[in-house]
Amino acid sequence: MSDKTLVEEAWIALEKSIIYYQGRPIGTIAACDPDIAALNYDQCFIRDFVSSALVFLINDRSDIVRNFLEETLKLQPKKTQLDSSTPSRGLMPASFKITVVNGQEYLKPDFGEHAIGRVAPADAGLWWIILLRAYVIATDDRSLAEREDFQEGIRLILQLCLVTRFDMYPMVLVPDAASMIDRRMGLYGHPLDIQSLFYAALRASLELLIPHEENQLIIKAVHSRLPPLLKQLRENYWLDIDRLNVIYRYQVEEYGEQALNQFNIYSDSIPFYRLAKWLPEAAGYLAGNLGPSQLDSRFFALGNLMAIIVSLTDELQSHRILNLIELRWTDLISNMPMKLCYPALEDIEWRIVTGADPKNRPWSYHNGGSWPVLLWMLTAAAKKMDRGELAHHAIAIAERRLLKDQWPEYYDGQDGRLIGKEARKFQTWTIAGYLLAKEFIANPDRLKLVTFPFENVSV
Ligand code: GLC
Repeated sequence: MSDKTLVEEAWIALEKSIIYYQGRPIGTIAACDPDIAALNYDQCFIRDFVSSALVFLINDRSDIVRNFLEETLKLQPKKTQLDSSTPSRGLMPASFKITVVNGQEYLKPDFGEHAIGRVAPADAGLWWIILLRAYVIATDDRSLAEREDFQEGIRLILQLCLVTRFDMYPMVLVPDAASMIDRRMGLYGHPLDIQSLFYAALRASLELLIPHEENQLIIKAVHSRLPPLLKQLRENYWLDIDRLNVIYRYQVEEYGEQALNQFNIYSDSIPFYRLAKWLPEAAGYLAGNLGPSQLDSRFFALGNLMAIIVSLTDELQSHRILNLIELRWTDLISNMPMKLCYPALEDIEWRIVTGADPKNRPWSYHNGGSWPVLLWMLTAAAKKMDRGELAHHAIAIAERRLLKDQWPEYYDGQDGRLIGKEARKFQTWTIAGYLLAKEFIANPDRLKLVTFPFENVSV
C-alpha cells in the first residue's frame, strides 16, 4: 500500500478517536476496538493523548490541545488533603471520561482510585507540563501558559515532585506502576522512565514559569535540583563496558562521603556475563532503576529515548544509545519497533517481581512486548542525532504491519511477530505515533516541540 494511503487511513482512524465535551473536542480515547470490552480504554489518558496532541499541534488543530489542557487543569486538586482517599494536591489524573448527570456533561477523572492495581500516575503531571511547552512553541502564544491558573497548576505539579519526602536522592521517588508501565514490574523507587520525564518537565517549567514573586521559590528549587539530577543520571545510571568494569569490582559496605559505591551495589545482583556479551563496545544506555543495593540493568525504551530527545544524556551518550539500538536491532526492534523493556523477566523473577501477572508474562505487554507508539520517540531521537536512517528503517518495518493488523496496542514474542494477546486494535497512540514519526521525517523542524538543546544545563 502506498505511503499516502497509510497516512490517510491513520488520519481517518485518529479523527474517529476524538472525544467531544460540551460540544468541543477535548481529547482522544485510548482505543476504538469494536471487538473487546472497553474497560477503561474508552477514556482519554493523559500520557496517551500526548502523541495525538503533538500530531494535532503540527496540523493546525491546536484548539483540541488547548481544550484538553484547560479541562485537565480543572481536574487537578488544588487543596492539601490529609485524607488518603482523595488525590493529593497537584496530582494529574491518569485518565478521564465524560459522564452525563441529569442531562449535563461532566468530566470524571481517574487518579488511580479506579485503575487496575489502584496506582496514582506519576507521569501524568510531567507529560502535562511537557505538552504545555509544546503548545507554546507550536502556537507561538504564551498567554495560555501565563494565565495565573496555569502558573499555579505548574507550581503544584512541581511541588508534588520537589517538596519534603523520604528520600536523599535528586531523583523523584515513585511507586511501582506509576507510568506507562502501569502494572507491577519491579519499578518501585527511581525508574528511569519517570526520571527522564521529570528532567524534561523541570526544564520545560523554567521556560514556562513567569519569574514573578510567587514563583521565586519554585524556580529556585528547580534550579537547584537540575544539576544533581543530571549528574546522577549521566553518571550513576549509565552503563557501558567501562562502567560495567568499574561496578564489577566495586568495594561494598563503604560509609561516608568518599564512598565510590554510593548505593552499595552488590556485584552478584547484576548479570555481568550476560551484559558483557550483549553490550557492544560502542554502545551504552541508562539503567532502568537505581536505589539502595539496586541497579536494574534492564533496558527501558521510553526512558532512554526521551533522555536523548530532551538532552538528559550528553551527545556521546545519546549516540551510544542509538548505537545499541542499531547493533542489537534483532533484540530491540526485530519485527516491530520497539521493545518497551529488554530483556523480559522470566520464571521465578517474573513470578516474584510482577506478582505472577499473566498479562505481563515473559515477552508480552510491558514485560518485553513491542509497542508501536515508541516509533515516534525512536524517530525523534534518531533525527535529533542526525541518524535518520535508523528511523527510516524502523518506520518501514512498522508500515508492513500496522494497518494490516489494525493498529494494535502492542506485539508479543521475542521477535515481536505476534499481535499482543490482549492488545486492543485501533489503539490511538499507535495510530498517532505512526503519524508523528512521519511528520518528524517530513519536517524535522517540528522536533523542537519536544527536544531541548544540549548546552543549557551544566553538570
Ligand atoms: C495500558 C497501558 C498504559 C496506557 C493505557 C491506555 O494500561 O499500560 O500505559 O496509558 O493502557 O492505553
